[in-house]
Amino acid sequence: MKSATQKFNTLPTHVAVVPDGNGRWAERRGLPRMMGHRAGILNMLKMISYINEYPIPYVTFYGFSTENWTRPETEVSGLFGLVENFVAEHLEEIHEKNIKIRHIGRLQGLPEVLQSAINKSVALTENNTGMKLSICWNYGGRAEIISAAKQLIASGIKPENLDEKTFASYLYTTGMPDVDLLIRTGDETRLSNFLIWQTAYSEYYFTKVLWPDFGKKDIDLALTAYSRRNRRFGGV
Ligand code: IPE
Ligand code: MG
Repeated sequence: MKSATQKFNTLPTHVAVVPDGNGRWAERRGLPRMMGHRAGILNMLKMISYINEYPIPYVTFYGFSTENWTRPETEVSGLFGLVENFVAEHLEEIHEKNIKIRHIGRLQGLPEVLQSAINKSVALTENNTGMKLSICWNYGGRAEIISAAKQLIASGIKPENLDEKTFASYLYTTGMPDVDLLIRTGDETRLSNFLIWQTAYSEYYFTKVLWPDFGKKDIDLALTAYSRRNRRFGGV
């Protein structure tokens, strides 16, 4: 088998994923939406182990947005329940892969059981030195920017001392590199308030494939597309 570096002439340092299309995946099969979410979360586990075989140090998933609260209460609580189960059943497996989990978003507002499941995942994997896996729960890009602005104002920083680097250090993603490759599945070509600061110069990859169907071959297609992009960051 070719090594990842032979397979792709360049790999992203930070891949962010909007795993969309779970509901439609279920509806097309005449199943309740929750079955799609269950398939989606299991696929996330599969994709985490697959990406982990590549030297990609940062992977970030959009899990639940500040706007997803507008969904029916049964779907919201169902999603939370799935995550609790996921942590109970699969956290150890992720830990064994030396993956370090980070939560991005606001813990407050989430049910206590979910908060403790998240805290447990972060604490258990704290000293792991492998892939950095960030999960965005109760995350919104605008909320993140407002939160940074509030902290900056409270810090009493002088306007002339505020630059992009300082601002970014107040975001939830402090210490992480910007997103290189943003993948969105499920046939929607929008960002939906996801990492709006961190994706300013990302390469975007959209696919019609619904998240539960997104597999090895699909991630390889996205990485191949990325390796062919010519990134200029505003230069020539
Ligand atoms: C993405 O799947 C998962 C979450 C937003 C939690 P959707 O639930 O958005 O699936 P569709 O877009 O309705 O198919
Ligand atoms: Mg959707």
